Amino acid sequence: MNTNQTSSPAVGIDDIAFATGANRIDLAELAGRFGVEPAKYYVGLGQSEMSVPAADEDIVTMAAAAAAPIIERHGSDRLRTVLFATESGIDQSKSAGVYVHRLLGLPQAVRVVELKQACYSATAALQFAAALVARNPEETVLVIASDVARYELHSNAEPTQGAGAVAMLVAADPAILELETATGVYTQDVMDFWRPNHSATAIVDGKLSISAYQDAIEGAWADYRSRGGADFSEVDHFCYHQPFTKMAIKAHRHLAKSLGSERTQEELDAQIEPTTGYNRRIGNSYTASVYLALLALLDGDDDLTGRRIAFLSYGSGAVAECFSGIVRPGYRSALRSDANRARLDARTVVDDARYLQLLEDAASADVHDSDRPRETGAPFRFAGVVGDRRQYEPTSA
Ligand code: CAA
Repeated sequence: MNTNQTSSPAVGIDDIAFATGANRIDLAELAGRFGVEPAKYYVGLGQSEMSVPAADEDIVTMAAAAAAPIIERHGSDRLRTVLFATESGIDQSKSAGVYVHRLLGLPQAVRVVELKQACYSATAALQFAAALVARNPEETVLVIASDVARYELHSNAEPTQGAGAVAMLVAADPAILELETATGVYTQDVMDFWRPNHSATAIVDGKLSISAYQDAIEGAWADYRSRGGADFSEVDHFCYHQPFTKMAIKAHRHLAKSLGSERTQEELDAQIEPTTGYNRRIGNSYTASVYLALLALLDGDDDLTGRRIAFLSYGSGAVAECFSGIVRPGYRSALRSDANRARLDARTVVDDARYLQLLEDAASADVHDSDRPRETGAPFRFAGVVGDRRQYEPTSA
């Protein structure tokens, strides 16, 4: 046995940034088309808006926009790996991360791979990244989660669409969040949500997806506890996957009840509310959603130094994972809170007719050769398709 082992360095999130689509639609527009009260979406789902990508945006352009400020700040000398998590991939073979690698000018001595398991895969990426960094604390890993959530038009799921990307730099001695080592995992084969190869939109059994989510979260929490994870009462905030923000509130109440917690409903809701601000306005960003919850919490008014945050990540199909982290002293100096809030307000407001046109246009984008109109104000754009080859370029090109 090696008796000279030194204690492992702290590993976690050293930087985090996000991007979203150029447009937003108020869910009152959809309520009008569906003939329901806007309150069904504002209150019942806890959603006020959805992001809608411009004609020349997709998961690659959002991912590159999210990661660019991180590379700008830290450079890429220590970067060895890019893990790209998505459930709305743009190719069955090539990783979307390879396009991002070129757009950001990353070194060739970097591995790039795409991961898939519905909305869960960014959490797998984060754990894989932490393991790589623990093995060699000199290396860093860029984890990117990027998705455009699409359901069948005019279905009940349509108001739970959205689009967004989160990029995170995983490093030793992290500036923002130290990951604790205990994690809890749970897998069960369930057909609550999936997307067959022939379909551009996900198929979903809405009611089953809600109960499958709650079962999986309960299972992941039990495994987390059995492996030395913190007690429910020792956690200050909980970041849940948020397909719609009310889901996080429901799941948290459900978990608390199953554990016999004595916290009141108001106390429980207060643990979730600060995590919902961005998802409420962006909609479902699938893999990115649980990390957008973290970003909203970090950008909030409370000083979180030393606080424990638990993460409840869920991906239909289904896999869930629970893990936790402790917020590092001085974390605020690593954030871009004002710019993050401004980005949400800067989106162009579109009405239902324009939104439907954007969706129709996006669906045909990679079927035929096409030039995409110049619309986005983001740093990178999807220029079109030539001979089945997707073209990406800096917007300034
Ligand atoms: N004022 C206030 N609330 C109202 C209201 C009104 N006028 N009218 C209705 N509501 C409430 C309802 O009471 C309900 O709340 P509760 O569930 O708390 O009772 C809520 O609004 C939604 O109403 P419905 O249940 O009638 O909604 P729906 O059947 O039209 O669809 C949905 C809801 C099933 C979530 C559907 O949008 C959907 O299928 N979405 C996609 C699937 C999804 O997001 N699943 C979540 C778990 S799976 C997952 O997390 C992975 C993933 O990312 C997809």
